[in-house]
Formats: sequence, C-alpha cells, structure tokens
Amino acid sequence: MKRIAILIASIFAACNLFAQASHNIIPQPVSVVINSGNLKLIKEFVIVDESQKLSPEISAFNAQIEKAVGFTFKTQRQSSAKQTIKLKLAPLQHPEAYILNIDTKGITLQGSAAGIFYGLQSLYQLIVQHQDKSKIIMLPSMQIQDQPSFQWRGMHLDVCRHFFSKQEVMKYLDYLALHKLNTFHWHLTEDQGWRIAIKKYPKLTEVGSMRSGTIIGPYSTTAPSDNIPHGGFYTQEDIKEVIAYASARHITIVPEIEMPGHALAALSAYPEISCTGGPFTPAITWGVFDDVFCAGKEETFTFLENVLDEVISLFPGKYIHIGGDECPKTRWKACDKCQQRMKDNQLKDEHDLQSYFITRIEKFVNSKGRHIIGWDEILEGGLAPNASVMSWRGTEGGIVAARLKHPVVMSPGQPCYFDHYQVKDKDKEPLAIGGFNPLDAVYQYNPIPADLTKDEQQYILGAQGNLWTEYIPDFKQLEYMALPRMCALAENLWTPASLKNYDSFLKRMKAHRFVLDIEKANYAKHFLVDKNK
Ligand code: ACM
Ligand code: ZN
Repeated sequence: MKRIAILIASIFAACNLFAQASHNIIPQPVSVVINSGNLKLIKEFVIVDESQKLSPEISAFNAQIEKAVGFTFKTQRQSSAKQTIKLKLAPLQHPEAYILNIDTKGITLQGSAAGIFYGLQSLYQLIVQHQDKSKIIMLPSMQIQDQPSFQWRGMHLDVCRHFFSKQEVMKYLDYLALHKLNTFHWHLTEDQGWRIAIKKYPKLTEVGSMRSGTIIGPYSTTAPSDNIPHGGFYTQEDIKEVIAYASARHITIVPEIEMPGHALAALSAYPEISCTGGPFTPAITWGVFDDVFCAGKEETFTFLENVLDEVISLFPGKYIHIGGDECPKTRWKACDKCQQRMKDNQLKDEHDLQSYFITRIEKFVNSKGRHIIGWDEILEGGLAPNASVMSWRGTEGGIVAARLKHPVVMSPGQPCYFDHYQVKDKDKEPLAIGGFNPLDAVYQYNPIPADLTKDEQQYILGAQGNLWTEYIPDFKQLEYMALPRMCALAENLWTPASLKNYDSFLKRMKAHRFVLDIEKANYAKHFLVDKNK
C-alpha cells in the first residue's frame, strides 16, 4: 500500500514538473494540465470572435504578437479555416477567469472580456517561450483554468517628481497588462509638479507643471539644484488616450489628486488658497512641506471640487485617490480661517480638521457617484464614512480600517515600495531613496494580515507596488526598479498562496525574461546570478 502511495506521489510530482517545464507563465496559473501532442502555430491561424466585441483585446494581443514574431493574426467573425484561435465570450464563475485550451487542432479561449484578455496574455507568453531559433512555434497541448486571488492588483506611478510622457505611461501599462495587473494608480499632483491639465484653472499647468531645477544626489537640506527646468503635463486629450489604452488592457486607472498636503505646485499657481497667501514655487527638493491647502477658506473647496469635477468626467473608474498623507498642521495652527473653521464645527484639533476636509471632499465625490481612497493618514481624526484606505506606513492602518469594515489596499513600505533598493549591496546600485525590498520579500508578502478574522479579511481588496520617482529620473531606471519586482507582486496577487513557490517563480523568470527582452526592458538582472538577490 505504502509503495503504491509513493508511486502515485512520484507520478504526481513528475506530472507537476512536466507541467512546469512546459510553461513558464507569470503569474503561475491556477491549473495547468499538459496533454499529449503539440500544435504548430503559424501565421495563417485566424482569430475567431463571433461576439465581435473583442477587438480591443485582440488588437492589444496582436500588437504584442507582432513585436514578438513579426506578424499578426487575422480576425474573423466566423471562419471556415481549420486553424483557429477561437474566442468564446462566455463568463465563467469568476469575473476575471478564463479557460485556455490548446490541442493538436487549434486553440479555444473562454471567459468574460477580461478573462479572454488574461487568457491571451498567457497564450502570448507561451508563444514567446515556445518559439525556437528558426521561428517555429510549437505549443504543447494543454488546458489552463485560471482566475485571480485578489481583485486589486495594482501598480502606482509618481509622474510628478519626474515626468513620464504619455508614451512611457502606456509602456508601463504594457508591463501591467502582461502580468495581469488590473489597477494603475496615477499620482498626478505633487509639490514638485502638477501634471494634469484642468480647463478651469490653466495656471495649474502653465505655472505648476514646471520647476526650476532638481536637487542633485542624495537628499540633504544643503544639496544644490541642477538648475535645469523640469516639467511636463498631460492634456485632457492625452489623458483620454491613456484611459482608452488602459481600458483595452482591462486596467482601471485610479487618478490621485493630492490634498490637503503635497500641494506646493498648485499653490504656486493659486497662492490664494493657501493659509499665508504665498508666494510659492514648485519644489526643487524632496520631502514634506508646511504650505498646504487652507482648510478654512471656502475658495479651497470650490477649487478642489471644480478640479475633481473635471477629473471625474475624464476617468471612468469607481475610485478617486485624494492623497491625505503627510500633511503638516503648522500653517493650520497659525491660520485664523482654519482656526475659525475648527471653532464653527466643534473640531478639537487639526487632525479633526483634516478629517473634516477629507469628509467634505468625500461627500462631493460620492455625490458624483464615485468613491474616495486615501493614504492611511485619513484615519486620523476619524475616517470619512465611505472611504477606502491605502495602507502605506506598514500594515497597521489597513488592519484598523478593515476592522472598521472599510475596504483596504495594502501597500506597506516593506515590501511594496519599489523605489527602495532591491539588493543589499547598495553601493553597486544606482542611487535610490533608501530601504531594502528584495525580490523574495515581495514574492513572499501576504497582503492579508494574520491577525484579521475571516470576516475582517474580506475588506482587503489586494495590494499595490508603489514607484515614487525622486530618484527615478528616466524610463530605463523606472524599468530597473519595477522589474522583476512587479512580476513577483503579480504572482503574489494572482496565484493562490498554496501554489506559490519562489524557486519555481525564479525558474520561470529565467524564461520570462525573454518576454521582457522583446520589450527591450531594462529589468534588474540579479535574479539571474543569485537566487537570494
Ligand atoms: C507616501 O508614501 N507618502 C504615501
Ligand atoms: Zn488656513
């Protein structure tokens, strides 16, 4: 009996290894069954889309295919062709699930539009990995059944400390899509630059999008500026283009308009909504600044509501991120109008005033049918009634919010800040902000805090990797910091914890890098030489 059990276990292990060897998909799918036989994929294959609703997904897939193999597949509603990639728009139990079947005759893919997009991403990775040197693509017969573990699979990008063009943002979205990440948190306003054109307030971009220089080297109060003007912004047409690009890839954009702090660029353009009246200039250095939006003036709320009105009419997603982090109370303490506001509303301190501020903004955003999400400081002074919380100062804020039955996105500095160093040997690395978030820590991170009850756990929507760009001056450096940690995070959020295995991930990464090479991505290569790096 025991011998039979051992035999069965060995066969099972061998099958698993075989399945592993036959695909190197990241994130690891829930179930892969390898069958006998192969399918030779040639350019005469036709994508069949009876629904005729999948052209965005097919175009995105074909753009990838063209880069990888030099041709695209034709699409037809019906096809008498024998060789087909048949897309069947038919939702499965999970809204993002898909079933991909490859056999010796052809390919079928079933799911919702999102599921089909994710299935095409798995197929794309298989195609790259099974293309030989003479460009012959021989796919093993297999069936993949797959769905994500978490609903918020996010990456953030700060385009304020350094500006990234519309094309670069779209390339960043390509990386999210490739790894089945579905949320892009676009950090659009900061002390160092305002990046979104607002028609009602043109000075936000005329004045607030350009700073006179950037500090050189590691942060210090005496670091000199390079005196090179740095700026850029997105027109509303640019924003619409990026939203459409994201939408075709099933990525929802969460725009962030920071308040009440990190507002120097806005105040440079409209100093009248500060406590002191200014004047100000967009910051050339990093950190936290005392000058913030005045919470006592009605004009501040009129301004922010008008800005949010335009933001809401551009971005179709449920969430608007309103920041809320790192707002010093220095100016509010000394401001008659802020103090009067506190008196009028029986607010006991400036934390209560921040809560008043966020709750008032929430009411406005809710009145437009949207929800706010903010950094975990929005818990201070009392959480706005319908707010979701992004936990960044560790996991404590997320735990508190989940216990209050508010939705939470986990993004703790360790290990979700990808602006931190990724190897111990920092001296050999490009300058980063500090910290140490290696690949394996990202991979092993469990977004669900152990001390939450089952009921509380349901409020954890997922997690997000953050890319603050103080020390990320260009797209090459952005790729270096984001990849492969984004790949590890994606597996963390998609693959069931029971199937996660870091050695398997590293093995697959060694093949997956050829997918990244097609993008000419400047990913960090430490994982190729030392699994502990
Ligand atoms: C943050 O990193 N200040 C949210
Ligand atoms: Zn004030």
